[in-house]
Amino acid sequence: MLFSLIFLCTTISSSMASLQLGFYQQTCPLAESIVRLTVTEAVAVDPGLAPALLRMHFHDCFVRGCDGSVLLESTPTNPSERESPANKGSLRGFEVIDITKANLEWQCPQTVSCADILAFAARDAVLLTGGIEYALPSGRRDGRVSSAPEVVKNLPSPVFDAEKLAQNFASKGFTRREMVTLSGAHSFGVSHCSSFVNRLYSFNATHAQDPSMDPSLAARLRSMCPGRAGGPNPTVPFVNRFPHKLDNKYYRNLKKMKGLLTSDQTLLSSQSTAGIVWRHAKHHHKWTDEFAAAMVKLGSVGVLTGDEGEVRKNCGFVN
Ligand code: HEM
Ligand SMILES: *[C@@H]1O[C@H](CO)[C@@H](O)[C@H](O)[C@H]1NC(C)=O
Repeated sequence: MLFSLIFLCTTISSSMASLQLGFYQQTCPLAESIVRLTVTEAVAVDPGLAPALLRMHFHDCFVRGCDGSVLLESTPTNPSERESPANKGSLRGFEVIDITKANLEWQCPQTVSCADILAFAARDAVLLTGGIEYALPSGRRDGRVSSAPEVVKNLPSPVFDAEKLAQNFASKGFTRREMVTLSGAHSFGVSHCSSFVNRLYSFNATHAQDPSMDPSLAARLRSMCPGRAGGPNPTVPFVNRFPHKLDNKYYRNLKKMKGLLTSDQTLLSSQSTAGIVWRHAKHHHKWTDEFAAAMVKLGSVGVLTGDEGEVRKNCGFVN
């Protein structure tokens, strides 16, 4: 009887554990400031690291939850998430997480999880480039599994239409509106030509180029992106003006048919999302509020807490 009572209590307490604001206040009071300092310095040297860190957090959270699985290195028998075509060659900023982790291990050994470091880093990237500030609950624990094939099964594809995007985000607990709101992240950073070249040369049987792309943008992109496979695959900014600033110009660009990916422009083409695009294009402040709330939600997807998982010593390797 006593045994089963204790058992019951411990199961309840571990399953009830949830993220908390200021989780490290007692155990590592400088944790959030150390992340902010490291990210600020890194972004000052290379502004492209801000979008890179935001994207890395998104890719972490949609695959096995925000558990730092995206940071794990492959082993000889297990290709990790980093090996997936959705990540390899385009995900970057790992060194920022590693430097931050090294600083934190020195301050408070084995206390701050890699998943939390990445979530804080994405939050700081958003503040530095968008002036959007939000309090972020923490206490995520690091997972021990990272598997390349899981990435494409869980992340949305750049050729998805609005319906498929909505389904993908719904499977992670997001509304259609939150999906459109988070897509505003494509107002900064870059994409490789390979992610949108399908729109430029042989779109379908009747149209050489995607008719939902502004023809002058398509022409400019063709001059940068060769049509044949295996050629060079440079990167192009999502938005030309102020490519390092996170704001609602993404939505204003969509209204000019200047979305880069199929998954961007479809948000205006589709009846079910066009209205949200129009509102976000018009009301910057409202979009920033909704973006902040959606980021907090993104950071809570499938998290490990309490005594689940571990706190890695090195973000690239399980303990
Ligand atoms: C809606 C579904 C989404 C799709 C299909 C998608 C797809 C992509 C693709 C294909 C790229 C370019 C990769 C490359 O070729 O280099 C990219 C870049 C990026 N994505 Fe997304 N994404 C989506 C949602 C999001 C969300 C929710 C966020 C964050 C909140 C995000 C943040 C970014 C950022 C910041 C970049 C630029 C990365 C850099 O400059 O290094 N994306 N995305
Ligand atoms: C090609 O794409 C356009 C625009 O999406 C569409 O209207 C047209 O029906 C498509 N043609 C074929 C043959 O699929």
